[in-house]
Amino acid sequence: MKNFTSETLRETYLKFFESKGHAIIPSASLIPENDPTVLFTTAGMHPLVPYLLGEKHPAGNRLTDVQKCVRTGDIDEVGDASHCTFFEMLGNWSLGDYFKEEMIPWSFEFLTSKKYLGIPVDDIAVTCFAGDDDCPRDDESAKLWEKCGIKKEHIFFLPKSGNWWGPAGTTGPCGPDTEMHIIRNHAEADKLGPYDFEKATAGTFLEIWNDVFMQYNKNAEGKHEPLKQKNVDTGMGLERTLCILGGKESVYETDVFEKAIQKIESLTGRKYSEGGEVTRAFRVILDHVRTATFMLGDNKGIVPSNTDQGYILRRIIRRAVRFGRNIGLPQGSLKEVSYTIINKYATVYPELVKNQSKIEEELEKEELKFSKTLQQGIREFEKVAANLPTGGKIDGVTAFHLYDTYGFPVEITNEMAREKGLTVDVEGYEAAYAEHQAKSRAGSEQKFACGLADHKEETTKLHTATHLLHAALKIVCSPDVEQKGSNITEERLRFDFNFARKLTPEEVAEVERLVNEQISLNVPVVMQEMSLEEAKEQGFTGLFESKYGERVKTYSIGNFSKEICGGPHAQTTGELGKFKIAKQENVSAGVKRIKAVLLSQ
Ligand code: ALA
Repeated sequence: MKNFTSETLRETYLKFFESKGHAIIPSASLIPENDPTVLFTTAGMHPLVPYLLGEKHPAGNRLTDVQKCVRTGDIDEVGDASHCTFFEMLGNWSLGDYFKEEMIPWSFEFLTSKKYLGIPVDDIAVTCFAGDDDCPRDDESAKLWEKCGIKKEHIFFLPKSGNWWGPAGTTGPCGPDTEMHIIRNHAEADKLGPYDFEKATAGTFLEIWNDVFMQYNKNAEGKHEPLKQKNVDTGMGLERTLCILGGKESVYETDVFEKAIQKIESLTGRKYSEGGEVTRAFRVILDHVRTATFMLGDNKGIVPSNTDQGYILRRIIRRAVRFGRNIGLPQGSLKEVSYTIINKYATVYPELVKNQSKIEEELEKEELKFSKTLQQGIREFEKVAANLPTGGKIDGVTAFHLYDTYGFPVEITNEMAREKGLTVDVEGYEAAYAEHQAKSRAGSEQKFACGLADHKEETTKLHTATHLLHAALKIVCSPDVEQKGSNITEERLRFDFNFARKLTPEEVAEVERLVNEQISLNVPVVMQEMSLEEAKEQGFTGLFESKYGERVKTYSIGNFSKEICGGPHAQTTGELGKFKIAKQENVSAGVKRIKAVLLSQ
């Protein structure tokens, strides 16, 4: 096996797929646009959903990228050898172009060729879909692997729970996947029959790559019909692969964290390699500071707050502060650790450098805020815990008090309780919170369970209404107004933008009037593809996260609104109904939020 650094692995992957006719596209934002099902981008395919559903991608039908992703479902596990909340996913896509016959030999070539990863063929095991009443066994994939040279006894079959990707229990595109694993324990692997993969002891196999073949559409009757546009969606975790190829114990020992570890060691006088709780604290700080750096440094960056993405960010910064205390990390140091992360990723994600001062300021502010109450809060917690027997439960009102007075997110209280063999009445906490706030905080990140959100008519209309609102705000508030965030559910749109104060009632009325005027004019929504430079020249606005020379999609609504955007949109504004602003909120000092609805006329 060849040894790689994060830089050379990214480059090798992208170059390989470029040599197979793929366009290299930039990582999309960590904050998904117009997807109410999830708070963060969780996989490489996530920002490409519209294209997997049939929209044309301006860069063509073969794409490859490295996508920054956040998954916070297992945040409390961070600290062990493998869990991270941030990771990069290497991926490639066929949008109705090639399929299994090309993809499997390419995967084989990339994994085994000395020019690429150079993994010995005998060390690779693959799993394929075992078949069930809905769909047949994926013998095509199995045969292709065998033809490539994978040993028959290293080809395993798993049911839908293991080798299927797509909407769980709902409708939409889906299909079998085939996963590639490195065999770490040959004696154990060789004992297994073709359906026994899951019976192997932990550590026998290490998953390295996943090829998803979207070939069915699950219809409303639950039947699987063959899809017209068959897609390939693959995902390879960068850090995980680096760790496996480098024979490291943990992703934290790969080059991505090297400088940050040195920094924490010099700040604390402790060693990452000490083991036990010290190593755990190092890992929590490393992961959480990296995730916070990427969240704050995203072009659609967020700031710590009490709802949605901002709450997750607050929670991870505060968790890092708490673990930092355990190893004597001086107050105000998170930004120094963050600095090593920014440096390490500067060429791949230049937005981190661009947003460096914001990252540092926000980290410092949040750290200071929490540090002020952390000691007292811990004392309060210890008092409560001392009065409870082992297995006892901290009541909801106390947990809420720890949050409200000392800034302890309930998940942190929960974790501290667990460390002492206690639990927290989370429902009681939610009730106390709801009582206090009259509304409960938004739930933590929902899992991107199905992988494919569909574009319902209502969300499409609200998306078009978002463009009209954006344009109207530029007229009424300031030409400098820019989108800072957007989220659409079937019921409403939510739009964050930079503005110092809330709109006056007159301004709200004027924004509504302007939007409704465009609706009554029934203006066609026109999509055009062009280069990024042409789009800029023609006055289209948008997040210019695309690469120089890349083709982008633009949407214009007469001369009123011109945005670079992936779609989808209504055909004409007349479909929208009546636009009404339902609510204004404060996101942070310079960012305001509008929630608006479309009423049927
Ligand atoms: N979307 C697939 C995954 O995340 C490739 O594993």
